[in-house]
Amino acid sequence: MSRLIASDIVTGYGKQEIVHGVSLTADSGEITCIFGPNGCGKSTLLKAIAGALPAWRGEVRIDERALSNLPAHMIVRHGLVMMPQGGGVFPRLTVLENLRMGGYAVVDGRLVEQRIETLLEEYPSLKRRTTVAAGSLSGGEQMMLALARALVSEPRFILLDEPSAGLSPALVSQTLERVQALTRHGIGIVMVEQNIREALPMADRLYILAAGETRFEGTPQDVRDDAQLMEIYMGQDSASATDALS
Ligand SMILES: Nc1ncnc2c1ncn2[C@@H]1O[C@H](COP(=O)(O)OP(=O)(O)O)[C@@H](O)[C@H]1O
Ligand SMILES: [Mg+2]
Repeated sequence: MSRLIASDIVTGYGKQEIVHGVSLTADSGEITCIFGPNGCGKSTLLKAIAGALPAWRGEVRIDERALSNLPAHMIVRHGLVMMPQGGGVFPRLTVLENLRMGGYAVVDGRLVEQRIETLLEEYPSLKRRTTVAAGSLSGGEQMMLALARALVSEPRFILLDEPSAGLSPALVSQTLERVQALTRHGIGIVMVEQNIREALPMADRLYILAAGETRFEGTPQDVRDDAQLMEIYMGQDSASATDALS
């Protein structure tokens, strides 16, 4: 069992502080969800945890190992990867080349090829299209590719930024089922989602952010009802609360 701990993270862009001291704990084999209105700093927080953005203050670690402000490839080697909003596949590269990018932090190239081969067995739609440019895949397939690419480094924790965004309802369920399946391999998931209705039942823990601060922390059982969720959201911005629950 591993635990990812982010404590008191402060970060932002330029001089603008966006995340004002957020702490978060995630366990391996569990799904930890982050919800919150648009623009409240969810993606910014994920980037700071993954080392894609410097943390101005605070600490990130997996168990006893401090990850804060290590170079990104070292963070990947210690078992933490992020799938950015939109998946972040390279559209001009082929499916196979994208998967190889997922292994860039792995020293042994043969190991990367072996892992890709094994992964492709679980993603038959990708296996049929390894030589195709990733940009020609459908949105759902690109998200699958992004997920598969994140797995090439055999992470202990994956940070997912809105994996279901822009997908049709059928694909939303399919994608979230894939995410859930990863926990059965012991991987810990930290997932930002706008799709609260679909994501909440999957969550083992949840955080609600508003304006760069933690507004709620607990389990789905701690959420009394939709009215309470609304209230947590509305504290900041009633329009996004209505959006989030519609
Ligand atoms: N690259 C950037 N440069 C400057 N400001 C940014 C950048 N990315 C996001 N922001 C700002 O940071 C705030 C939080 O954004 P973000 O973390 O993307 O929110 P969320 O993911 O919760 O929708 C927003 O006000 C946004 O405009
Ligand atoms: Mg975002």
